[in-house]
Amino acid sequence: MSIFLGSTVGKKFLMGITGLIWAGFVLAHMAGNLLIFFSNDAYNSYGHALTSGNIIYIAETVLILALLIHVGTAVLLTRANRQAKGSAYVVVSQGKKKATLASRTMAVQGSMVLAFIILHIITFKYGTYYETNVHGIVMRDLAKLISEVFSEPGYVAWYVVCLVLLGFHLSHGVGSTFQSLGLMEGTYRNLWKKLSCVYAIIVALGFISQPLYIFLSAH
Ligand code: HEM
Repeated sequence: MSIFLGSTVGKKFLMGITGLIWAGFVLAHMAGNLLIFFSNDAYNSYGHALTSGNIIYIAETVLILALLIHVGTAVLLTRANRQAKGSAYVVVSQGKKKATLASRTMAVQGSMVLAFIILHIITFKYGTYYETNVHGIVMRDLAKLISEVFSEPGYVAWYVVCLVLLGFHLSHGVGSTFQSLGLMEGTYRNLWKKLSCVYAIIVALGFISQPLYIFLSAH
């Protein structure tokens, strides 16, 4: 087991599985955010339901561990890759297809997404605590906080840029994970590739719709 996890294939596998955990989370988070299109009460009640039980602590622990493993293995693999490129023994295949821009810039995109996640949690989770009352239940007014944040053009622009980068990172990351899991072989190769691309577009556009909608309704 430790030999497998110490190998490049093992690290790629770990990176893929932890990436998939986050891929599942962002899809659910994006879908939950769409409740703002129904009503502020629906959005706040959803946030309240998620954060009032103990399940949130389990989810947070899994997400933090997955992120640490994902970033840790990414750093180790990038370092090993750079060392291999600097070595005289690296073999450059002549017929090899040129890597896409999205795949060559995974480390840069990943670092931006990490910075985004940290700032995002500071802005919202630890942001101003407004309160509201929905059908007699006192809860946090997250709808008021997001309306306030996304009425500022700088925030909206930063979110749009980061969410487009997240889309590229997800598309390439999920596709590579399918490849590591051996799903990109034979007949279904193109299907899995398309699926990861469609998934990434849905997540990125779904997220982007919220700041844009709030900004445009406020101006
Ligand atoms: C338009 C885009 C987004 C909006 C409006 C949004 C909104 C929010 C809000 C309001 C919270 C606070 C929830 C609470 O404390 O009850 C939150 C938490 C969080 N968001 Fe987002 N989010 C967006 C995109 C993202 C993306 C792209 C990611 C990850 C790549 C992300 C990751 C997180 C995480 C990890 C938390 C903390 C969850 C927890 O531990 O309680 N969010 N988000």
